[in-house]
Amino acid sequence: MSEQSEPARLQKFGWLDILGLVLLAGLAVLPPIAEIHKQLLLLAIGVFQVFESRLVACHTKLLSGRSYSVLIKILLCSLLLIHTVPVTEAVVNSAYWPIYFLPVVTAATYFGPVATLVWTAFASLAYCAYLIPAHFEQYEIGPEAYELLGIRILFFFLAAILINRFVTENRRQVLRYQALSESLVESNRQLQRAQADARRAERLAALGQLSAGLAHEIRNPLGIIKGSAEMLSQKFGPSQPAAGELAGYISAEVNRLNALVSRFLDFARPSHLDLKPVDVPQLVDRAIDIAQHRYPEFPVSIERHIAPNLPSILADEQMCDQVFANLVLNAYEAMGASNTAENSTPTTAAPKISISISPDSSNGVSGVAVGIQDSGPGVPEELREQIFNPFVSSKKSGVGLGLSIVAKIVDDHRGAIQLVSRSGEGARFRVFLPTTAA
Ligand SMILES: Nc1ncnc2c1ncn2[C@@H]1O[C@H](COP(=O)(O)OP(=O)(O)O)[C@@H](O)[C@H]1O
Ligand SMILES: [Mg+2]
Repeated sequence: MSEQSEPARLQKFGWLDILGLVLLAGLAVLPPIAEIHKQLLLLAIGVFQVFESRLVACHTKLLSGRSYSVLIKILLCSLLLIHTVPVTEAVVNSAYWPIYFLPVVTAATYFGPVATLVWTAFASLAYCAYLIPAHFEQYEIGPEAYELLGIRILFFFLAAILINRFVTENRRQVLRYQALSESLVESNRQLQRAQADARRAERLAALGQLSAGLAHEIRNPLGIIKGSAEMLSQKFGPSQPAAGELAGYISAEVNRLNALVSRFLDFARPSHLDLKPVDVPQLVDRAIDIAQHRYPEFPVSIERHIAPNLPSILADEQMCDQVFANLVLNAYEAMGASNTAENSTPTTAAPKISISISPDSSNGVSGVAVGIQDSGPGVPEELREQIFNPFVSSKKSGVGLGLSIVAKIVDDHRGAIQLVSRSGEGARFRVFLPTTAA
């Protein structure tokens, strides 16, 4: 039987329940007063009303608590009818027949329309069952008694349908409000995420301008230092090997600084996207090649889950290469690749990267989502908020620009990047790139 899928809750005993008990007590002081069975049955119905919510909360294999509740009420009401007529009269004529509204109304509030009708028919049958002994015991039951019975039963159905309609509508409203409040919570979450993204983008823009200015100013003197060092090396190198060696150091360090400045500029330069159709699995494969090339001594097992029918995306291929290369390199480094390069032990016993690529949508925009999960130690709680900020690094020789460049490129493509893993598990980044970045 179809039951409304509302969670069964223990209801509080309220003033309406007390009023219900008072009304039952009212029946107790009305005739037949001396009939002890009637009083006991009224008491039983009252006690049952008090504990009904407990029964409703349980479920058995055979029937639900709600079905048992209606069934017990039909039983108690039928017994009450027997004890409310004089022995000489037929039970169907008991003045207490409206007590059957109790199970009928209960069914109408608990169940859907079909089950309500079935339970009402069952209650009516229980009532009509008293026709059988009346027939055998030869009581006077004339045609008008049958008519009266028919009218009463029709009233049962009428009450059941009306109450059920009202309750069903009420339930629908509650579900509508629930859905509305859930969608409000979701919108609120999206708004907070968008605000966080906007704050990050602002920070990045301010820092980008500063870095661009600084990098520009640093490059000129670096060029002069490098040129001078080369001249020194050419002039004094052959005659004074020590001077040549020192000039070499200067040159090498200047190169290193130059590379760093170039990365600043990459980060700061307003990006002009060269959009072309790009195949995302190829981007990821290239990133893995780069990482394997950088850390050939560090074997990592790669697991790929690529959904069929992936759309290609319009994106700047070179920039997207940087995105995935940075993420995969970070994963390698988190699992200990840079440690093994320095001849120490890997961080994880069986380094593994799991890549998933699937079509997805974000805020109604369709695109492709890439998940990159590693088996490393994960991102520590205190770093999670900041890892997309520039100069945040936990590595000895890290600059901390990788993820901020990644975030900037993804933002430029109107995509999204999130660290989706919880602390205490390997890091999992999710990159969403829309099919059209414009
Ligand atoms: N896969 C990862 N697992 C654990 N920590 C990570 C991972 N990726 C990034 N991180 C953390 O984020 C920091 C910033 O990364 P990134 O911006 O690429 O800079 P860098 O690699 O130079 O440190 C890293 O130093 C590391 O602490
Ligand atoms: Mg990095």
